[in-house]
Amino acid sequence: MNIILFGAPGAGKGTQSAMLVDKLGMVQISTGDLFRSAIKNSTELGLAAKSYMDRGDLVPDSIVIGMVEEVLKGLKGKSFILDGFPRTVAQAEALGKMLQVNSMSIGKAIFLEVPKEELLDRLTGRRVCQSCGAVYHIHSKPPKEAGVCDQCSGQVVQRNDDKEDVIATRLKTYEENTLPLRGFYRDNGKYVEVSGNREAGQVFEAIRSLLA
Ligand code: AP5
Ligand code: MG
Repeated sequence: MNIILFGAPGAGKGTQSAMLVDKLGMVQISTGDLFRSAIKNSTELGLAAKSYMDRGDLVPDSIVIGMVEEVLKGLKGKSFILDGFPRTVAQAEALGKMLQVNSMSIGKAIFLEVPKEELLDRLTGRRVCQSCGAVYHIHSKPPKEAGVCDQCSGQVVQRNDDKEDVIATRLKTYEENTLPLRGFYRDNGKYVEVSGNREAGQVFEAIRSLLA
């Protein structure tokens, strides 16, 4: 089954996707990760996305949709997770068309519900590996050696957009543009809500039970 994982910045989309990839062999498509990789490689796509991301704004729909269209073509026959896409109703509508063209479908759009105070703690405390993208938290999931990735020994750093002023913009952008997707997916019968406000393993089990 292909799924959409959506929710606020810091809700745990990346953490849950990593577990779904690891334990169930699914493929993760994270538009945020794709943009960060494009920025790191100084590609045209990265240049186009960087200023929006640094401010906490959404990258324009036309850029994101074109990027996902390309990626989807390579996913035939695989079970995939869309992490961070769609994020606007226009993106959700475009996704519907892309899936149809590729004879694919989405089984469930899973909304991870987490209260705002918890989101702020998760985002300000998050650290990520610059090389492999592994996600840590200074209190709840620190790397074994400070600043060094457990998985690849890469450098563990704070994301540019995890500074407090940018977090505020990201949360506002999310409320205005992404929350309306709940209604969109309720209307087409794919919507499921999962509490993301518990230990990551418990969230994973709740998601896994939906895939059975
Ligand atoms: P993106 O990278 O997608 O960021 P986001 O949606 O803001 O979400 P995050 O990655 O911040 O959070 P997450 O839910 O993955 O949480 P995580 O698992 O890391 O997008 C970045 C930017 O790219 C956007 O602002 C935009 O500019 C652009 N962009 C991307 N997609 C776009 C699109 N479709 N359209 C337009 N623009 C787009 O967890 C966070 C922390 O919490 C970690 O430290 C983790 O260890 C901890 N944690 C996770 N789960 C738990 C748990 N259950 N209990 C305790 N701690 C936990
Ligand atoms: Mg993420």
